[in-house]
Amino acid sequence: MEFDLLLKNANLPDGQTGVDIGCANGMIVAVERGINAEAAEVIDAGGYLVSPPFVDPHFHMDATLSLGTPRMNVSGTLLEGIALWGELKPVQSVDEIVTRALRYCDLAVSMGIGSIRSHVDICDDELKGVEALLDVRSQVASYLDLQLVGFPQDGVFRDPTAQTNLLRALDMGVEIVGGIPHFERTMQDGARSVTYLCELAAERGLRVDMHCDESDDPMSRHVETLAYETSRLGLEGRVTGSHLTSMHSMDNYYVSKLIPLMAEAELHAIPNPLINIMLQGRHDTYPKRRGQTRVPELREAGINIGFGSDCVMDPWYSLGRGDMLDVANMGLHVAQLSSRKDMAWCFDAVTENSAKIMGLEGYGVRKGCKANMVLLQAVDPIEAIRLRATRLAVIRAGKVISRTQASYAALNLDGRPGTVDPAQYAPKNAG
Ligand code: FE2
Repeated sequence: MEFDLLLKNANLPDGQTGVDIGCANGMIVAVERGINAEAAEVIDAGGYLVSPPFVDPHFHMDATLSLGTPRMNVSGTLLEGIALWGELKPVQSVDEIVTRALRYCDLAVSMGIGSIRSHVDICDDELKGVEALLDVRSQVASYLDLQLVGFPQDGVFRDPTAQTNLLRALDMGVEIVGGIPHFERTMQDGARSVTYLCELAAERGLRVDMHCDESDDPMSRHVETLAYETSRLGLEGRVTGSHLTSMHSMDNYYVSKLIPLMAEAELHAIPNPLINIMLQGRHDTYPKRRGQTRVPELREAGINIGFGSDCVMDPWYSLGRGDMLDVANMGLHVAQLSSRKDMAWCFDAVTENSAKIMGLEGYGVRKGCKANMVLLQAVDPIEAIRLRATRLAVIRAGKVISRTQASYAALNLDGRPGTVDPAQYAPKNAG
């Protein structure tokens, strides 16, 4: 059999070592040891990890790379970030959003991200962000999956035109219903918004992904309503609670009732570790709360958890570089997931768990999956997280679409950098 691409001597996230991966017509057609066959292109993985691409299940592509426009966030709080975004929205153009988003997509792909779920703010009567990101979605489709969530940043009830705008955005092709119940005027309005938005999604056969309880207020309990409406409307497995930071501060007795309800509704959960640790607990003196949702307990209950990046260089967060291993690393530390098994799970949280949240088909390094992969300069998922490993090659539909030169200062303790031919990964024109 002849392959378009053959990867030799790869380790896989599930612990298999030294396997060969054959790709043809954009699909993985063989994963086994010792494949002897012709291939148009052969890559020696050198015993390094070949993973399916990283998946970022929570991002804001309409705001990314806007840092400092029109000014910086001085207090560093979530609320000043929202106010600053409100200043930028009326003055930015569709073209500016498209340009920034495409730049970010290039960065993300070079960092091995293959799929992004981005929220897009619909609280703008011109729907500039929606127009821009729909354009971007089609421009990047051959190399990046982009899902869009209609996100009423200023509250679907609190903002006077948000309901109309959300319907317009969904009609234009935005595929997921978003929300922000904790930002509505009252707890009652927040709960009503969850009901309204879930009913809207059920009517249209869409998934739901809400910013839910992104607050340090232990009484912010909208996830309870989200679980209830998910079960009532038969949306199990199609609804995600993003952030869920108030759960960090909730009463333990209440949480012991809440988590089983979330599990029953098959909710997915998306903590955003970089942003949560940066923004939560800002009103505390000492001790300061971490604010990340209860990852070990949710996981223990069987709830699917993916880590999101949320922000890169925008009104809420000045840092970031599209590195899902950085996200996994922070989530690992904040949740104190330090056992070997737990650390490996953090890699799943930025790959297969998030793929499940997005409903991606053909995801994985298995026969019959799409030939989308990343070759990492690390022998296993834990080392990948420890090193924020270099993405030596990013593969999409059986073709290499990005290469990065191997890092020889990477502190791989087994001396493996020397096993990879640096010339193979050197960027063109490198000296
Ligand atoms: Fe967000």
